Amino acid sequence: MPSASKLRIALVGLGFSRLVLKDYVAAPGVDLVRLCDLNEKRCQELSAEYGIPYTLKFEDCLGADIDAVDVSTPNHLHESQSVAALAAGKHVYLQKPMAPVVAECRRIVEAARRAGRSVGMFMSNLNDPLNHELRAMIAGGAFGTLLSMRGRMAHRGARTGWKLWGRGEDYWRRKKDLVGGGGMALIGIHAIHLMPWLAGRPVESVSAFSDNLASRDLFEGDDITSAVTRLAGGTVLALEASYASERNCTEIYGTAGYAVLEHGSLRVKLDSPWKGRVLDLPGGDQESVFGAEELERLRAPLRSEFEQHGAFARAILAGQAPPVTGEDGLRDVAVLEAIYRSARTGRRETPDLSGEAAK
Ligand SMILES: NC(=O)c1ccc[n+]([C@@H]2O[C@H](COP(=O)([O-])OP(=O)(O)OC[C@H]3O[C@@H](n4cnc5c(N)ncnc54)[C@H](O)[C@@H]3O)[C@@H](O)[C@H]2O)c1
Repeated sequence: MPSASKLRIALVGLGFSRLVLKDYVAAPGVDLVRLCDLNEKRCQELSAEYGIPYTLKFEDCLGADIDAVDVSTPNHLHESQSVAALAAGKHVYLQKPMAPVVAECRRIVEAARRAGRSVGMFMSNLNDPLNHELRAMIAGGAFGTLLSMRGRMAHRGARTGWKLWGRGEDYWRRKKDLVGGGGMALIGIHAIHLMPWLAGRPVESVSAFSDNLASRDLFEGDDITSAVTRLAGGTVLALEASYASERNCTEIYGTAGYAVLEHGSLRVKLDSPWKGRVLDLPGGDQESVFGAEELERLRAPLRSEFEQHGAFARAILAGQAPPVTGEDGLRDVAVLEAIYRSARTGRRETPDLSGEAAK
C-alpha cells in the first residue's frame, strides 16, 4: 500500500474527466500514472499533453504499480470496474452517481469491505470553497433555525446538442437503464448530495413529480423532476433537476438570515456578523451582494485546499476515510430512487439503503 507522499492513480474514462485533468495532475498527493479509455485518439492526445502513459485495456490498470483506480466511465460501468479494481486490492474513486441503482452501489461497498480498501466519490461541487463556507455558516448557526432550502441543477446540454449529438442512438446518456434515470440522476444527483451535506442532515422522506416534457426524441429519462423532501430535524428541502432548461441555484433560509447563490452570484443577509474564510459579513438589515468575479477572487486562495481529487488521495495516504465515502454515494442513490419511486407511486417515500425497493 502507499508509503510515499503520493497515491498512484489510474484514470479510466477520459470524457468529462479530461476537463479537470489540469487540476488533477497538479493536486498535492496525486500521482496520475496511467490513463485508460477505449478512444485511442483521445488517449494519445492527453498522454502527449500530460506525459502520462495510456492503455486501452482496463486490466492494465490493476497492476502492482497502481494504488487506486479512478472510475470515470459511464454510470452503468461503475459497478463492474469498481468491483474488479477492489478485488485487485486497489482503492476506488468514482464519478457520480455511484451507480444506476442502489443494489449496484451495495455490491461496490461490500467489495470494498471484503478487500479492506476504500471507495471515495468525486463530488465536484465540493471543489468550491464557498460551499464549505455555507456549510460552516449553517453548522455555526449563522442562519438561525434552518427552515428551508432549495437546490436546483439544470442545463440545456441535451436540447442544444452538447453531450448527445454525434454520439449515435446507443449513446449511454439516452438510455434510462444505463444512466439510472434521466436529468435527476445525471445532474440532480449533485443537489441530492450537496444540499443535505450543507445542512449536515440526511433526507428522511420525499414527495416528487418527474416527467419528460420536451426531450422524448433525445433521451428516455426525465427532463424535469421536482421533489420536496424532509431532512432529519425537519428542514424542508426542495430539489429540482432539469435537462432541458437552464439556471442552477442554492437557497438557504433560516430564522436569522438567508443566502441565495444563483448563476455564480450570491445574495446574503444575516442578523449577526459572520467572519469566515471566504466571507466577511456585517450582519444587520443590509443584504450583501457578491458578483461572480468578486466571489472568485475571494475563493481563489482556497481552491487547491478543497480540490477533491487531491483531498481523496491525501485521505487515503493518511489512512483516513475519503471526504465523500462509498456509503455516502449509496445514500445519494437511495434518495434518487425514492424520488423516482414517489413520482411513480404518487406517495411519500423514504430512501431505502437496502436496494430492495423497486425504483
Ligand atoms: N462531476 C461532474 O460534474 C460530472 C460531469 C460529467 C460527467 N460526470 C460523470 O462522469 C462519468 C462519465 O461521464 P462523461 O460525461 O465523461 O461521459 P462521456 O460519454 O463523455 O465519456 C465517457 C468516456 O468513457 C470511455 N469509456 C467507455 N467505456 C469504457 C471502458 N469500458 N473502458 C474505458 N473507457 C471507457 C469513453 O470512450 C469516453 O471517452 C459519468 O458517471 C458521469 O455521470 C460527472
